[in-house]
Amino acid sequence: MADTSVAANPLREGMRIRRTPAPCSMVIFGASGDLTQRKLIPALYYLHCERLLPQGFSVIGCAKTPYSNEKFREDMADAVRKFSEKSSSVDEASLKSFTESLYYLTDDFGDRNAYNQLGDLLGKLDRERGTGGNRLFYLATPPSSFSVIIGHLGSTGLARPEDEGKSWTRVVIEKPFGHDLESARELTTTVNSAFKEEQVYRIDHYLGKETVQNLLVFRFANGIFEPIWNRRYIDHVEITVVEDLGVEGRGRYYEEAGLLRDMIQNHVMSVLSLVAMEPPASFDAVEVRDEKAKVMRSIRPMDLDRMEDFVVRGQYGNGWVRGERVPAYREEPNVSPQSTTETFAALKLFIDNWRWADVPFYVRSGKRLAKRSSEIVVQFRRVPHMVFGQNAQDPIEQNVLAMRIQPNEGIAISFNAKFPAPMMEIRPVKMEFRYAESFGGEPPSAYETLLLDCMLGDQTLFNREDSVELAWQLLTPLLERWREDGEKGIQLYEAGTWGPEAADKLLERGGRRWHRL
Ligand code: BG6
Repeated sequence: MADTSVAANPLREGMRIRRTPAPCSMVIFGASGDLTQRKLIPALYYLHCERLLPQGFSVIGCAKTPYSNEKFREDMADAVRKFSEKSSSVDEASLKSFTESLYYLTDDFGDRNAYNQLGDLLGKLDRERGTGGNRLFYLATPPSSFSVIIGHLGSTGLARPEDEGKSWTRVVIEKPFGHDLESARELTTTVNSAFKEEQVYRIDHYLGKETVQNLLVFRFANGIFEPIWNRRYIDHVEITVVEDLGVEGRGRYYEEAGLLRDMIQNHVMSVLSLVAMEPPASFDAVEVRDEKAKVMRSIRPMDLDRMEDFVVRGQYGNGWVRGERVPAYREEPNVSPQSTTETFAALKLFIDNWRWADVPFYVRSGKRLAKRSSEIVVQFRRVPHMVFGQNAQDPIEQNVLAMRIQPNEGIAISFNAKFPAPMMEIRPVKMEFRYAESFGGEPPSAYETLLLDCMLGDQTLFNREDSVELAWQLLTPLLERWREDGEKGIQLYEAGTWGPEAADKLLERGGRRWHRL
């Protein structure tokens, strides 16, 4: 296991050491699903290895498939071995002690009796493992089950803390929160009937990524960037979140969701709001979330009568990814051969406020693209006057700040320098910070950070009801238009490429091009 202790690296000295949460139980609804195996269980295992989980911490996995505790433990141990994203190998002794804290309850989410059994098991764990009545309910099921589960948690009394004032109960709700504006509002009503807002954690795992948080530190812990972080100096911003993966056996979910709901409504909008927000008074849940909501409120509604100027919708055809032939989206399991679901989208957005008026924010996201990469690019304006007599046809490059969210987390700034030659030749060069080189080790996974935050009761990195609704308010008209348009306007792109050409045109029309990742 990598040594991530503070003492192991002098650069980490003085870094804030995290508190350990109070003893608690975590209930995962949807325990046999992909998210539990790929993300939640590996993240909990690493928290266990780093001794960040509280004494007696217990997990109850709930799903419809009947399992024994033993079988569940074995499967989860396999999941850690298979899906661990860290370079170090899994420590079998730690894995064994971790899986001993896992329990399983067969649960038909619609059956009220199952919740009574769950209540009994939670009580037993409180007595036997000292979990103190503290409960974290995690909804890792398909979104269509959220309302039913929340309804039952409310009606059986499980949503209320065991001992008001002494113990806590919290609920983590995965994305997408709703399917459109109306369904998000309905879900909010259900959530509010069972829980108070301070108990609700709407998770967007991008907010837990180390580099996404570093964006706030970069902006607000340095004096030199914030003065130029505005329309006077910035030409445009690009936010790219792309993958080479396809739908990976999630065809059924994806047919309902599509790229806009799966990635843009949440991950991309969250990142955009951190890039664009005003400095909050403090790094506190209320202040940060207030500023994020203000950005969402200022995004100009898209002009759907001039769609081609603002939006690109794409779907992958077959092609080659990492040397392998891959099928088209319409050939994936559980996908209709006539599907009009988008697997790629690019949008041009404007934020109508004093800081950002007329600065385009280009965002794009897609599946089965050339590689996995998430990056924020801030391109600065050209110098106002060129003193070096550079040829107008061959202008010098504009300064670019690139923040790599993944992989190879880091920040790079490009600027111009004189090429060593007996004449004035100007070339762009790069100054780089690489997370791994400066701090050693690997950053914690987003789920590690966020699960710990839920247990500690810190909502700063979770979405509040208003931001979620505002994102739906912006995107629902577009989703409706796409539904009406059906096949019309979908651009097919070859898997393993950078998406439809129309996405390049979106920038070319403004004399720009996507930064090469
Ligand atoms: C999830 C989406 O929220 O994010 C997936 O549902 C996507 O479709 C995933 O693959 C990407 O996350 P990451 O952390 O691998 O970039």
